[in-house]
Amino acid sequence: MKELGRVPPAERPAIGAATNRVKQEIEARVAAKLAELDAAAARADLARTVDITMPARPVPRGHLHLLTQVRQEAVAIFAELGFAVAEGPQIETDWHTFEALAIPKDHPARDMQDTFYVADEIVLRTHTSPVQIRTMLAGKPPIRIVAPGVVYRRDDDPTHSPMFTQLEGLAVDTDISFADLKGVLLHFVRRFYDQDLAIRFRPSYFQFVEPGAEVDMQCRFCMGRGCRLCKHTGWLEIGGSGVVDPAVFAHVGIDPEAYSGFAFGMGLERMAMLRHDVTDIKYYYEGDLRFLEQF
Ligand code: PHE
Repeated sequence: MKELGRVPPAERPAIGAATNRVKQEIEARVAAKLAELDAAAARADLARTVDITMPARPVPRGHLHLLTQVRQEAVAIFAELGFAVAEGPQIETDWHTFEALAIPKDHPARDMQDTFYVADEIVLRTHTSPVQIRTMLAGKPPIRIVAPGVVYRRDDDPTHSPMFTQLEGLAVDTDISFADLKGVLLHFVRRFYDQDLAIRFRPSYFQFVEPGAEVDMQCRFCMGRGCRLCKHTGWLEIGGSGVVDPAVFAHVGIDPEAYSGFAFGMGLERMAMLRHDVTDIKYYYEGDLRFLEQF
């Protein structure tokens, strides 16, 4: 095409036109070949990486830990009854953990056997009951709270772990009685286990409640007839409870003449054990997926 200038003018139009045709022909063939090669490469790529007829590979996903599930369910059931969630520190003062709950310095519950001491007046809380104290110091009645949380005790066997989880409950108002405690716990047990179970109270002693009682529920495995799991008593223990002792109100500045309350505390591991037939408390903490994936 550069040399078209040297061609005699008369022949230029014909030669120019012929040159153009050849040029277009070459460009068209190159384009066609490139498109063909691209298509072949794309087909080869597809054939190599995606067989769209193959079943999809599952993407492994985690889920909430059994104890988290149980905690959320329990909190939701109490939330329906108007209980809010309260929290407190796991490293707690001796005063909140014991003194304000009317557990004196010389009480055996504070023995080195049970309590992990961080410093002289600082402990790893042995129960969630100090959250009762923090809640009552922070606000005036009416109070209705549940406090789920980790607690620590020097205890270690198939049904006890040095770290475990409790769910505390506290209600304070002008007309709270033991009957309210019974109604709330009965409702909870029936909702949580989804069974028409009975509960019973056994007189017991906790310094911060009067009267105090241990709570049993009808054995859900034998419906009370007696079996290995309830040690042939027909009942399974689920926690402690009682009417708030006026001595506790005195520590937090609530007038015991005007107000009354109830409190309870349950172990979440035990609640999950009784619902899912978990045989050793260690399974919750070992992180073994063969166990965890069942829930
Ligand atoms: N804090 C008690 C415990 O850990 C349980 C409890 C809570 C008892 C509230 C009575 C009232 O054993």
